[in-house]
Amino acid sequence: MVLDRCDIIHHLAEENRKANESLYQAAYNTKVEHVGESVYLRGLVEISNICRKSCLYCGIRSGNENVARYELSDEEILSAARFALDAGYGSLVLQGGERQDKEFVLRISRLIKEIKSLDEKAPLGITLSLGEQSSETYRRWFEAGAHRYLLRIESSNEQLYRKIHPQDHLHTYKSRITALEALKRTGYQVGTGVMIGLPFQTLEDLADDLLSFKEFDIDMCGMGPYLEHSQTPLWQYRGTLLPQKQRLELSIKMVALLRLMMPDINIAATTAMQTIDPLGREMAIMAGANVIMPNITVQQVRGDYQIYENKPGIEDDAAISKTKLEDFLREKKIPIGYSQWGDSLHFINR
Ligand code: 5AD
Repeated sequence: MVLDRCDIIHHLAEENRKANESLYQAAYNTKVEHVGESVYLRGLVEISNICRKSCLYCGIRSGNENVARYELSDEEILSAARFALDAGYGSLVLQGGERQDKEFVLRISRLIKEIKSLDEKAPLGITLSLGEQSSETYRRWFEAGAHRYLLRIESSNEQLYRKIHPQDHLHTYKSRITALEALKRTGYQVGTGVMIGLPFQTLEDLADDLLSFKEFDIDMCGMGPYLEHSQTPLWQYRGTLLPQKQRLELSIKMVALLRLMMPDINIAATTAMQTIDPLGREMAIMAGANVIMPNITVQQVRGDYQIYENKPGIEDDAAISKTKLEDFLREKKIPIGYSQWGDSLHFINR
């Protein structure tokens, strides 16, 4: 469906419950028609909270000295991968703070190969979410076997991007765009996304975000509400934010609108949604999302990966989170694409 900037802003501002529910239903129907009924699961492994960046919204920014820094061992990462295989998740997401040193780059290549060889007949799909890297690094990891990459643009408005990042050479809007372009050129299925309800952000900004996804022709998207963190510089603007419930509602609308605009991409229901409402991810599924990334990081370090506060699942282990999620999907009669990669049809159809 073609939605112009005006239409999008109108929908984002809509307060009528009936009108919003029919938007969600339309998006759900579009999803079923174009990418099928199934929800795909990717086991999320938070491999390390060591980061060279200091983004003003993020709890694990390098400037936050209260964080206990960790790095999972190879064995911990491989055992999470085995869990994903056994659970039928089909794919794995390796996420972590941004590092570009040689040792890190080589280690990731090696881990990708080892994960791939855990089951040679039905190898796990591998998505990376490890920040900005050189084209050379992206190529190495692609050749090692990763085939999807998530790198959020955070905001497509360059002025707003500047307000939520430190003003130095490590945090430029331009380098983020360059990285996204490099990923595409390398051959990855590329996912991006934004935070919703940021300080200074307007509905016009959010409409432009959606239009920019369409223009960049993304394959996947993960968006979620911005959540204020008391150990970050943006905390000072907490009084200017929309109430959390409204940030969640806006996030669900963003999912629905994007589904209507880009019917065959993969759209994730994100953990930040679940932070505001225990059923936040499920709401996104009912509004057109088709991917969920259950956290399968070992429990001992989960508390140290608080990009925002009150992140859910810190007490649950992977098996408990899995059961809760699957119960909901079963109840709604939504099939799970077990042991499948669930690649972006948009990428395949291109
Ligand atoms: N609230 C919501 N999302 C956040 N992220 C980082 N900090 C926050 C926060 N305070 C998101 C960013 C990043 C992803 C890994 O987590 O969008 O890309």
